[in-house]
Amino acid sequence: MTAGTLPLIRTAVLADQPRVDAIRLGVTENRLSDPSKVSTAEVDWYRDKAIFLVSEEGGDVVAFACANHQTGLVWALFVDPAHEGRGHGAALLDALLERLAGAGHRQAWLTTGAGTRAERFYRHRGWRDMGRQFDGQIAFIKTLPRA
Ligand SMILES: CC(C)(COP(=O)(O)OP(=O)(O)OC[C@H]1O[C@@H](n2cnc3c(N)ncnc32)[C@H](O)[C@@H]1OP(=O)(O)O)[C@@H](O)C(=O)NCCC(=O)NCCS
Repeated sequence: MTAGTLPLIRTAVLADQPRVDAIRLGVTENRLSDPSKVSTAEVDWYRDKAIFLVSEEGGDVVAFACANHQTGLVWALFVDPAHEGRGHGAALLDALLERLAGAGHRQAWLTTGAGTRAERFYRHRGWRDMGRQFDGQIAFIKTLPRA
């Protein structure tokens, strides 16, 4: 991505799934690799019924994000490590929150691993730490503006 180029955000389609899976398994932190935690049915539900976005650079999908319009959960936000630090994560998160606000939510929430780049990323963006879950993950919430 050249300086000043914005990430291209669009809705995910089925044909994106091989790239999405490669990115999901290619990250080094918060890796969603346990098949018991991520089923094909769940991924399909996010794509067909909920919010599932991808970010492109040079015509390739380099990041993706999913949110649940029913509960306000940010379920996934993953950037190909080779494309980190270029604004894809921030652009995808902004787009997810805009859609959650549009669905009527006044608050979004998520969980993420402690001591990760993601923890710093969310704190820097004003997400509020609600404490640890039983599995040690940090729960964060963010107040959304009225759509
Ligand atoms: C956490 C994660 C989503 C961040 O994504 P990212 O694309 O690297 O994030 P961004 O580039 O939008 O922002 C990161 C930093 O790069 C900076 N940045 C933004 N655009 C930039 C650009 N064009 N050039 C250089 N730096 C840029 C941002 O200012 C930001 O710094 P800041 O936090 O001090 O503001 C990503 O590292 C990731 O996928 N991690 C592994 C999986 C994971 O942990 N996901 C979260 C699970 S809940």
